[in-house]
Amino acid sequence: MKEKIEAMRVSIEEGIAAAENRKELFEQKMKYLGKTGEITALLKGMRDVAPEERPQVGKIINELRFWAEEAFAAREEVLKQQELSAKYASEKIDVTMPAKFVETGSVHPVTLVRQELLNIFTGMGFDVYEGPEIEKDYYNFQALNIPADHPARDMQDTFFISGEFLLRSQTSSGQIRVMENKKPPIKVLSPGRVYRSDSDATHSPMFHQMEGLVVDKGITLNDLKGLLDEFARRMFTSETKVRLRPSYFPFTEPSVEVDLSCSNCGGKGCRICKGTGWIEVLGAGMVNRKVLENCGVDPDVYTGFAFGMGLERIAMIKYGISDIRLMFENDVRFLKQFKD
Ligand code: DAH
Repeated sequence: MKEKIEAMRVSIEEGIAAAENRKELFEQKMKYLGKTGEITALLKGMRDVAPEERPQVGKIINELRFWAEEAFAAREEVLKQQELSAKYASEKIDVTMPAKFVETGSVHPVTLVRQELLNIFTGMGFDVYEGPEIEKDYYNFQALNIPADHPARDMQDTFFISGEFLLRSQTSSGQIRVMENKKPPIKVLSPGRVYRSDSDATHSPMFHQMEGLVVDKGITLNDLKGLLDEFARRMFTSETKVRLRPSYFPFTEPSVEVDLSCSNCGGKGCRICKGTGWIEVLGAGMVNRKVLENCGVDPDVYTGFAFGMGLERIAMIKYGISDIRLMFENDVRFLKQFKD
């Protein structure tokens, strides 16, 4: 028996030494200590040993078992460390290596301008209303005091869909839709896309406008001027001045064209303001009595002002962009210059 045990001890040692990884080691371990393993078989065979020899035989088999368990555990630990070291070596990170370049997007200049305008005006208490882009002639023109065949229609080269429907040429249509649904006081902003059959360096067939409308008792042109002063300071610089020039729009009376002092040269005159010191930025005026009446608002009780501006135009002024078409070509080299 002793020789048998000794031989088994030698073959276990050889088996352990030959195991190159934990899987092989496990196979060896099962060969001796598994359910059908050789040491397990020895233990089971105790039944057949003569009772007087049992204590003696049991002792040496148990010694072998404990020895084997420890030998496997020790080798297991060594192999585990070796595998870990190999893994660490193969997964080693060179922190001095240049990082992979990740392309990040940027916000479109028109979106930047839109967000800034919304921030400024909602901060002053304006609500936001977005009307439909496919609009009725009534909302885009007639209710704004531009009847069929009125010469003012020529100011906006319109895409008609049918006699009654068109692609809105101005967000002023939002004024009517808001006033039809809400009694004054009204303080609303209407941003969105508009369309005109027009295309050159400063005109695009699709562009963005933002309309503002304030209607309440006792609103005057002075309120409009005060609001625009504040807008100009926040959108451009704290030095920016506002100038109102008489103009004509069918839906306002009186109407004004609003110029801002050139923020590039501070009003001295430069290439951007074509030497005048002023840049025309938006149209505005006191809401025409007829427009209020068309919406069921009594012009003897309420007055209001409205203004409308082109977002691309604001972006061109703010960022010094010379051609509106650049904004719609989707050239990332152009677009990624505008980071928040
Ligand atoms: N809708 C005008 C345009 O597209 C801009 C405008 C002018 C809007 C005067 C107004 C306004 O609300 O009062 O040219």
